[in-house]
Amino acid sequence: MTYYVTTPIYYVNDEPHLGHIYTTIAADVLARQARLAGEDVFFLTGVDEHGQKVQQAAQARDMTPLALADSVVERYRDLWPQLSISNDDFIRTSSERHKRGVQAMWRLLQDSGHLYKGMYEDWYCVPCETYWTETQLKDAGTGQDKLCPDCGRPVQKVQEESYFFRLSAFQDKLLAHIHAHPEFIAPESRRNEVLRFVESGLNDLSVSRTTFSWGVPVPDDERHVVYVWIDALTNYLSALGFPDAPVPKYWPADVHLIGKDILRFHAVYWPCMLMAAGLPLPKRIFAHGWWTVEGEKMSKSKGNALRPADLLRDYEADVLRYFLLREVPFGQDGDFSHAALRQRYNTELANDIGNLLNRSLAMLHKYRDGRLGRAATGHDADRALIADVEAMQRDVGEALRVQAFHTALERISAVVRHGNRYVEDNAPWQLAKSNDAERLDTVLYNLVETLRLVALQLLPFMPGKAGAMLAQIMGEQVMGTVGLHDQGGWGLLQAGHACARPSPVFPRLE
Ligand code: MSP
Repeated sequence: MTYYVTTPIYYVNDEPHLGHIYTTIAADVLARQARLAGEDVFFLTGVDEHGQKVQQAAQARDMTPLALADSVVERYRDLWPQLSISNDDFIRTSSERHKRGVQAMWRLLQDSGHLYKGMYEDWYCVPCETYWTETQLKDAGTGQDKLCPDCGRPVQKVQEESYFFRLSAFQDKLLAHIHAHPEFIAPESRRNEVLRFVESGLNDLSVSRTTFSWGVPVPDDERHVVYVWIDALTNYLSALGFPDAPVPKYWPADVHLIGKDILRFHAVYWPCMLMAAGLPLPKRIFAHGWWTVEGEKMSKSKGNALRPADLLRDYEADVLRYFLLREVPFGQDGDFSHAALRQRYNTELANDIGNLLNRSLAMLHKYRDGRLGRAATGHDADRALIADVEAMQRDVGEALRVQAFHTALERISAVVRHGNRYVEDNAPWQLAKSNDAERLDTVLYNLVETLRLVALQLLPFMPGKAGAMLAQIMGEQVMGTVGLHDQGGWGLLQAGHACARPSPVFPRLE
């Protein structure tokens, strides 16, 4: 089975920040999990280089838009490996392959009869790259600028010849699709938001501009450039080889991960474009919430935008990955604070997981020279632990199928706490004293096997740290490619297997 997961493509007018790494980490976890499950995965990220916003940012820096893009693209390309992002491709909208994709999409829309030429006479928000009608605008008071209802910044009056896309023709079809596919837009609150928006009526969409040039030229009418959102959305297809492959392998996407602010583009414009072009719709669009930082909105003027490079100086990539996905239910807004990160790390990773790993392997070395004995058919406590581990594996799979990262991590934590209770309840040190060899072997075996299966589930979230756990547990036994389908079963470790000596994977953060 194929699995296609995408992030938004990030504007190159600004450097990467917390919001960008959040979506990309989430997508990476899904991609890694699907690969572990044996699926044929394509994970795409990239950059959005065109449009008026980027052109203006370049002008302000006295650069060409392409020179600005080139420099910011390097920032992203450097950053992703530092965060263990395993993307299969990186799309730039200034690339030839993408331009061909956009022009082919344009022709499909045109051939379907859903484009027409007219005059656009309304308002445009450059920071949001969004069109607004007079009645939608916020009024800043008499004589003041008109403001964008989304970002609150001044909009500009636009009066120019434009192509329009007959979005209005797709209102009923889109509603029918959303109703027939309850999983299409998530979370539920966002789905309702889209339903209300579509039910209130869709206006035709202006899809070209003539007053600036940084974009993809409209085929056969080069005075016009394609509206940046039509251009940007098409990246999800152009990266797969569209139009050479009219319906590429991996299409339709299994999930587009996006932030809540770009929901309308993905859940309304994109599906309608695809319907007009006669292409299948993505299976799911998940809009996550926004982060504040220490209780405040991130903004350039406040200078409090969290830069990934600074975060990576303070914390290991895996720790950031864990925190971002554990702290806030995916879909809700959340607050990033250093205190919360340290607290979670020290409790859930250092104390709970780190402790279970260290004490289990230390006891295995102390009492058994690091070698596993045979597990006997056990007590109720053993059966309860095994059942919990097996249920955890199913629950984590279910949670990730619906992008509930925090639920998956909570469930893994619960098993780890169970493991630590099992140590206390079965007190291996007592069993060693009383020479109950069979019972001691069983308890140690169950602990190591629990840890192995916990580490496997943690691999997509913390590839480095979970990999280090597995390396200690597997000792000299070469792991080869790790797979959930063939290595996820309870009891695969053999009697006689030697584990490495424990070395701390989660040292406490002071
Ligand atoms: N270029 C468009 C996307 C085109 S996709 C076909 C774009 N780019 S962006 O760089 O402005 O934003 C990318 C993503 O960052 C959005 O999904 C947005 O939600 C996310 N975030 C920006 N600030 C954020 C937070 N403070 N918190 C979480 N995510 C945030 O939009």
